[in-house]
Formats: sequence, C-alpha cells, structure tokens
Amino acid sequence: MAGFTNAAFREIVRGFGGAGLLATEMVNARGFVWLDENEAEHPDRLWGVAEESRPLAVQIWDNDPDTMAKVGRRLAGEYKVSVVDINFGCPVRQVTEKAHSGSYLLRDPMRMHAIISQLVVACAPTPVTAKIRLGCSPDNVNCNEIAKVVEEAGAAALTVHGRTAKDMFKGHADWDRISEIKSHLKNIPLIGNGDLDSAEKVVAAFQNYNVDGVMIARACLGRPWLFAQAAAALRGEPIPPEPTMLEQREVMLRHYQLVIGRFGEEKGTVLMRKYACCYAQGKHGARFFRSHVAKVSTSQQFHSVVDEFFPVVDNQDRATVSS
Ligand SMILES: Cc1cc2nc3c(=O)[nH]c(=O)nc-3n(C[C@H](O)[C@H](O)[C@H](O)COP(=O)(O)O)c2cc1C
Repeated sequence: MAGFTNAAFREIVRGFGGAGLLATEMVNARGFVWLDENEAEHPDRLWGVAEESRPLAVQIWDNDPDTMAKVGRRLAGEYKVSVVDINFGCPVRQVTEKAHSGSYLLRDPMRMHAIISQLVVACAPTPVTAKIRLGCSPDNVNCNEIAKVVEEAGAAALTVHGRTAKDMFKGHADWDRISEIKSHLKNIPLIGNGDLDSAEKVVAAFQNYNVDGVMIARACLGRPWLFAQAAAALRGEPIPPEPTMLEQREVMLRHYQLVIGRFGEEKGTVLMRKYACCYAQGKHGARFFRSHVAKVSTSQQFHSVVDEFFPVVDNQDRATVSS
C-alpha cells in the first residue's frame, strides 16, 4: 500500500509472522529509471528492499513495456526480489488519467500483454505477477478476459481486488466475480482481495470462493498481527487474541523507532502520525488521540501524546492497565 507498507511496517509484520508474501508500495518504473540515469539513489520506496528477508514482492507500475522490463531486470537480477508484481489496479487520477497506467490499462489488454510478456523475459526466472481490479467501471467489467491475457502473457499469478476502478473503495468487494475468474485460468493461482479484516473472513473466503490465496491490505495497517491470526485459523488452530492495548502501544512505539531511525526525528515523527492513527482506529478515544497526534513533530511530543491519549480500552471494552 502506497504511503504505508515501507520497510519499517514490513519489519513489524514479519515480527508477528503469518504472511506468506509481503509486497512493497507501488514503485513508478519511469521514476526509477530517471533516478538511475541521474545517478541518484534508488526510489525511497525501495528503502530496505536489498537487505530485507525474503520472500518479498516489489510492485511496479507504468505503461511502457521497455521501461517496465528495464526495472524488472534490475529488481530480479540486482535486488534479487522474490516476485515482481505489476500494478494494473490503481484507480488514482495521477496514475490513470495523467500516466495512463494502473487500472487505466484494463481497457487495453494488448498493452497489458506486452508489458507482462516483456517483463517475464526480463525477470526470468523470477516470477512476475499481476494485480487487477474487476474492470474500469461497473459497465465495463472485463476481468475474465483480462485474466486470460495475463496468464497467456506468462504471469505466474493473478491478484484481483473485487471492485472496479470507478468504485474506488465504495461498496463491497464482489467475491462472486473474483471466484468466477478461476474458471478462466488454466494453471496460475488466483488471489482474491478486498474487505478481509478478520481471521474468520479469511477462512470464509477460502471456504466460499474459488481462490488459491487471499491478500489483506487496509485491515493490517493498525493490526500487523492479523496475518498471524489468519494463518492460525487456516491451520485450524485457535486464533491468537488481539494483543492488549499495552502490547499494541509497544508495537506502535517499536514501529516509531524504525521510522525515525530511517527518516530522522522530524520527518519520521510527521510520517508516524498516520500510522499511529491506524493503531488507534476503532478504539475507545481514538478520535481524541488522532486530534492530538496529528500535531506532533518531535519525539518528546509523540511520546507524551501516546502516554496521555493512546487508547487504553479496545473496542471490545477489554480494559488494560496503562503503565
Ligand atoms: C492507502 C492505500 C494505498 C494503496 N496502495 C496500493 C499499491 O501501492 N498497490 C496496490 O496494488 N494496491 C494498493 N492499494 C489497494 C490495496 O492493495 C487493496 O487492493 C485494497 O485496499 C482492497 O483490499 P483491502 O480491503 O484488504 O484493503 C492501496 C490501498 C490503500 C487504501
């Protein structure tokens, strides 16, 4: 998730375990090439990627097959990432209207084919995967056709967010539509995505729909332990309980240390505001915490707002001791 799943967050998720494959924020291939040619550092979104444990997928976006292949070759050969994923799902105007990329490409299966097939050659033997939405709009749902193109072009897996680009995040993900895609694929796995926010929903997705894997996005932001809960449920084991509020606070503070370790106190503290809000989301007193944490810009301010306002009672009213 752009703006969120950087190396600090991924390290926190890895600490809990349970996730089969983590993915970076989407990286613009054209920007990467430009930086490279101008002898600057790699994109900030690749921070930590070279050293991080595997498996790790790096997601890239653009509409030019050559540029994508160039970047894919580096990611596979130099960075040795486990998977190169292509974003064909982003509905944000800057990516669609301005750059004719992301979900915009769902209207151009031939170009999708060219991007995937060139990338597959450039990255071999590293697998290339694709992430799509159901189509551009509810009147133009073409995921079944797209799925065939993706497989034929050589992708190793297909992930589908069960909304159209026009839907953005409105309504519910349509898992029936996701499931239907399976019959249009011959061999590659289908990974369903959309609205999974509990271990129970993950289990139900596998039971009720024809998918080989599932992807969790938004729900893990303030709950990086969600993957461990889902993995336990899938093994038929008891679901580990939510950490106490005190434990959750410790996770957030650890996350904060990683963020300021990378970005420095000022930038890191400002960046941490949004993550901190995620940790508090849905908890009693979250609004109050949010209004205060939104103003912090030093470590001292951050810690004192956390001490004073981070929720101590979760949404199940399970009171915990605040030290
Ligand atoms: C803030 C934000 C950033 C996102 N960034 C990306 C991205 O970089 N690449 C991508 O494939 N999807 C991205 N998504 C979409 C999610 O991966 C996912 O498809 C969508 O949120 C639905 O899944 P969920 O209900 O589990 O969140 C982003 C979503 C959000 C809310």
